[in-house]
Amino acid sequence: MYWGTRADDLIVKAMIGLLERNPSLPKERVDDVAIAATTQEGDQGLTLGRTAAILAGLPMSVPGYAIDRMCAGAMTAVATTAGGIAFGAYDVAIAGGVEHMGRHPMGGSADPNPRFLAEKLVSGDALNMGMTAERLHDRFPSLTKERADRFGMRSQQKVAAAYAAGHIQPDLVPVALRSEQGYGLATADEGMRPETTMEGLAALKTPFRPHGRVTAGNASPLTDGATVSLLASADAAKELGLTTKMRLVSFAFAGVQPEVMGIGPIPSTEKALKKAGLSIEDIGLFELNEAFAVQVLSLLDHFGLDDDDPRVNPWGGAIAIGHPLASSGVRLMIQLARQFEQHPEVRYGLTAMCVGLGQGGSMIWENPHYRGGRKGK
Ligand SMILES: CC(C)(COP(=O)(O)OP(=O)(O)OC[C@H]1O[C@@H](n2cnc3c(N)ncnc32)[C@H](O)[C@@H]1OP(=O)(O)O)[C@@H](O)C(=O)NCCC(=O)NCCS
Repeated sequence: MYWGTRADDLIVKAMIGLLERNPSLPKERVDDVAIAATTQEGDQGLTLGRTAAILAGLPMSVPGYAIDRMCAGAMTAVATTAGGIAFGAYDVAIAGGVEHMGRHPMGGSADPNPRFLAEKLVSGDALNMGMTAERLHDRFPSLTKERADRFGMRSQQKVAAAYAAGHIQPDLVPVALRSEQGYGLATADEGMRPETTMEGLAALKTPFRPHGRVTAGNASPLTDGATVSLLASADAAKELGLTTKMRLVSFAFAGVQPEVMGIGPIPSTEKALKKAGLSIEDIGLFELNEAFAVQVLSLLDHFGLDDDDPRVNPWGGAIAIGHPLASSGVRLMIQLARQFEQHPEVRYGLTAMCVGLGQGGSMIWENPHYRGGRKGK
């Protein structure tokens, strides 16, 4: 539906929605705008944070810049601006990301240095995300296709249930669009498949490898989207009358072998937990980006969590609604913030994601609605 819509217009609409929903924020109080995109060219180029700030009606005095850490672009935008707040350089910042995977196919114009392959720094598989997911199946035989398919089917069912309960819609910003059918209004995610069955999934082709295990049913589809968030110091939030939805406790990024990039969130989560002085038992809600089912399952196995643990992605995830690379990190945070409201017994939540070329990103958040009670399990 966004084929005829510019990528920068998606992020601008999201920013306008954010500002409208926080009317007590004087626009000139925004100290910086960090917007991520993986392919920074064309309508995703020209240092997006600055262009989007101008187009969204922020005063010319508000600066902005672009960020890239592939899938963790928006997460890195949040980490970077939050770091600026912690340092005292900013009071208020806007952070988000956009990816129009239709207009900017993954890796389309990339020109990887030939040394990567010539010097065997990485294998060719490392540059193809589907192949990295196949490699995870190879490495951990307990991560079967059947488990990946079931996880994919559950993601579809959980997103459908969350939509039916109206959990997701309040955070969406409607976007006017023009398609071959004429003018329209995008008000919901596209491409969800609530009718998914295990039989249907078993019959799908394995596009990355003959007789492989990764399919369109247990991978995130290619989608277009944008997300944005407002960050403030505790003092500024109080002064400006902003509603505190989450408190950032710690964050960490980590590197792993690029051929198995899907395990990246395991070391980044361990690092973030250590920095926070917490253990996995303290985490009461998990929002894990579903780039591929097998990659989420590898994290669940590592931390001893069940495939269908109710604390994990309770409203489904990217397998059902897509993973527009640089925007997904903030979607995880938005969903966690809503879930915190509904779960005052949960104190801490985790957002985590794998990143191309072998990385993981994790952020631990505290629930401002916490009223005591259950910690993690
Ligand atoms: C997996 C992938 C290659 C599939 O692309 P695609 O072939 O264009 O996907 P489609 O939506 O056309 O689905 C392929 C087929 O599976 C079917 N299908 C998809 N999901 C299904 C489901 N849940 N149940 C039943 N059938 C399903 C489609 O109907 C289609 O069937 P058809 O071939 O008969 O038309 C693509 O989504 C991909 O590359 N995903 C990974 C993205 C990625 O790497 N992101 C970065 C992560 S780090």
